[in-house]
Amino acid sequence: MSTGSREAPRVVLLPGDGIGPEVAREARLALELLAPDVEIEERLLGAAAIRATGTPLPDETLEACRRATAVLKAPIGDPEFDAADVRPEQGMLRLRAELDAYANLRPAVQGDVDVLIVRELVGGLYFGARGVRDDGTVFDTCEYHPTQIERIVRRAFRLAQGRRGLLTSVDKANVLETSRLWRRVVDRIAPEFPGVRVEHMLVDNAAMQLATSPERFDVLVTENMFGDILSDLAAAVTGGLGLAPSASLADGGPGIFEPVHGSAPDIAGRGIANPSAMLRSTALLLEHGLGRVDAGRALARAVDAGLALAPTPDLGGAATTAELGAAIRGQLAVDGAPAPA
Ligand code: IPM
Ligand code: MG
Repeated sequence: MSTGSREAPRVVLLPGDGIGPEVAREARLALELLAPDVEIEERLLGAAAIRATGTPLPDETLEACRRATAVLKAPIGDPEFDAADVRPEQGMLRLRAELDAYANLRPAVQGDVDVLIVRELVGGLYFGARGVRDDGTVFDTCEYHPTQIERIVRRAFRLAQGRRGLLTSVDKANVLETSRLWRRVVDRIAPEFPGVRVEHMLVDNAAMQLATSPERFDVLVTENMFGDILSDLAAAVTGGLGLAPSASLADGGPGIFEPVHGSAPDIAGRGIANPSAMLRSTALLLEHGLGRVDAGRALARAVDAGLALAPTPDLGGAATTAELGAAIRGQLAVDGAPAPA
């Protein structure tokens, strides 16, 4: 979190692709209402950036993000580039790596379920050596250095300490060398956090238990690819992908706040996308990126209340993106938005 300076905080908004610009608009309106002193700068990322500049993460976007207090990112991706060499997702992966936003927090909350998935975001299969051999074999490799595991595991322990005190470390230690290292690191760090109960769970079992008894979990910590898959599952069992936000935090530099869901090209341009995940990501940005805890919590409550009044079609309702966005802003007025810091 970089909130020490007296200058106005700067948020870089990346409207992205598909439904991205539609949900980004609602986020911008909410942010302007809750934090009118914050400077918002829009930049290109993803397919929109490839079309305009030939690259998914233009230098100008990267530089703006580095200088920002926090980055608010809408989903990116376009099927037009599925088979291309230059793809929108490469821009996002590079942005995560360049900002070293290694700690991806993905909360999934509904009823008696309150799970926080802590996903390692800049290592593993996503960033290991890859290539093609002479015989046509294609390979991706999963690699982890102990220090990469230590920092994410420590963060997860600290988060569990502030919650219900249960940390589930998810791996595939019965098969993978990287998972055996992961377990050793968790066991080595555990004594630093005597108040946290630790369990190790194999990823296939974790998937089953998330589907059948999600309320048994508190904090899950896991490597990049397992976390990608389990976070979609956790979102599905707590109301769907339209609702799930995430925060990707670095040590010191700006964090990236973004929905778990993708750019949904099938419904893009129709004004019916659910903006809740984007708005909840904005709430996380206010709380964790700008240190404005009251404003963040007010927005999170307004999203819950707005959803009950004006649900979008993915939730069985008929509200448009703009109508739900307006209902949420209306709730902020009812709730009494905190004065800007
Ligand atoms: C996510 C997404 C991305 C990921 C894709 C689009 C590269 O699925 O943020 O979960 O796998 O990290
Ligand atoms: Mg994913």
